[in-house]
Amino acid sequence: MKQFTNIYDLESIPQTITEALELKANPFAYETLGKHKTIVLLFFNASLRTRLSTEKAAKNLGMNTMILNVNNAWNLEFEEGTVMNLEAPEHIKEAAQVISQYADIIAVRAFPSLQDKKKDASEWILNSFVKYATVPIVNMESATMHPLQALTDAMTIAELKTKQKPKVVLSWAPHPKALPQAVANSFVKMMQQVAVDFSITHPKGYELNSEITKNVPIQYDQKEALQHADFVYAKNWSSYESYGKVLHQDANWMLTKDKLRKAKFMHCLPVRRNVVVEDAVLDSKNSIVIQQSGNRVYSAQIVLKKILENL
Ligand code: CP
Repeated sequence: MKQFTNIYDLESIPQTITEALELKANPFAYETLGKHKTIVLLFFNASLRTRLSTEKAAKNLGMNTMILNVNNAWNLEFEEGTVMNLEAPEHIKEAAQVISQYADIIAVRAFPSLQDKKKDASEWILNSFVKYATVPIVNMESATMHPLQALTDAMTIAELKTKQKPKVVLSWAPHPKALPQAVANSFVKMMQQVAVDFSITHPKGYELNSEITKNVPIQYDQKEALQHADFVYAKNWSSYESYGKVLHQDANWMLTKDKLRKAKFMHCLPVRRNVVVEDAVLDSKNSIVIQQSGNRVYSAQIVLKKILENL
């Protein structure tokens, strides 16, 4: 594999899920594959899971790791042909080529502005690295996608499903802040690639990009949508249509034990207790959020393994 910017970079998603679970069973099977190779992890935004799990994945493969919080480095300019007489002293053209001399793989986390829909959709930060770096790029959550999370989510469903085609529901949940659509987008794309009965529920106005949701059923009645669900994935996202806006924070959309019944509860974390989901769910055996987080190591590890094999 040449890079991992979205789930479609994987040749076969079901095969990748199987291989990731094999790595989980035997994490050090390829402990010399990454010997003398270095991954640089670049964070434009905060992270707990992605940062630690990707570093652990790289180390399981024998790689060296370097982490840079970009806010502690020089501000980067991304525009072509600009007169750089304002804040940013370094252009992405130099920065990406310089980092490429220190790295065999560059992983990037860069959230959207949620101000400029067109610019966010262009994935200007991630794609600038793809354009100017001379080594493979891994997406650790970009403006519109979080493919490592989606791979993790599919792995976790594969591990825990008790029927061939479980019912999986992605439910919008309230949140006080405007959040990106990236996790929801990637989860939707992933669920379209695996054997599940998938639907989405959210209040009116929170429709995701229809080019992503395509013909996935959407229900505005959460209670009805959750009937007989095997897995419920809760996530907040800001409005896509009224781009980046929090239209309301209707507490009635919080996930509760009563609504979930026997369904397994999923969330990418971090999660706001008693806003997105009540304590009684997170503290119950039906919550699989910790297992999901654990699987972040092996989704990153299978992706890095496939890239290393192609270097
Ligand atoms: N789920 C996830 O990406 O977590 P972090 O933001 O902590 O990396």
